[in-house]
Amino acid sequence: MLKPDAVKRRLIGTVLGKFEKRGLKIMAAKMMFIDTNLAKKHYGEHSEKPFFSDLVEYITSGPVLATVIEGEECIALIRRMVGATNPQEADLGTIRGDYAIDTGRNIIHASDSADSAAREISLFFEDSEICEYKLPDEELIYEEP
Ligand code: RTP
Ligand code: MG
Repeated sequence: MLKPDAVKRRLIGTVLGKFEKRGLKIMAAKMMFIDTNLAKKHYGEHSEKPFFSDLVEYITSGPVLATVIEGEECIALIRRMVGATNPQEADLGTIRGDYAIDTGRNIIHASDSADSAAREISLFFEDSEICEYKLPDEELIYEEP
């Protein structure tokens, strides 16, 4: 999910372009406002943390671009592309390492496990909004597509 700062900073194309160029498949993308209820559900695991209210305020401060992205081992792959939670510690070349400075404005969320991806996708998308299709160059991306 591209967070409101990414949308407002016109980074949608830059960030999605990195995933596309890597060879990943975008199966869904939706610009939307997250209301407080949905924000609290999405980040429920952090409800007891001291930064929770700031996080909810941040994620509801403007539109986000929610996406579903597919690819081999893509959860770990995307987490590595996103970089450390604190952009100050994120490696150069990662999304946060290149485009963010502050943990509270770190421009992108990425699911951290298959279970959380399934849970989060169901919060933001109907099944009918997720497009199944084949990329024509899969044999150029994967040895065994
Ligand atoms: P995300 O869930 O957004 O992909 O980020 P993450 O896994 O790298 O980090 P996580 O621990 O899940 O934290 C969720 C988001 O909360 C904000 N945060 N603020 N002030 C703080 O100490 C603090 N820690 C986390 C960040 O926006 C982080 O992405
Ligand atoms: Mg997280």
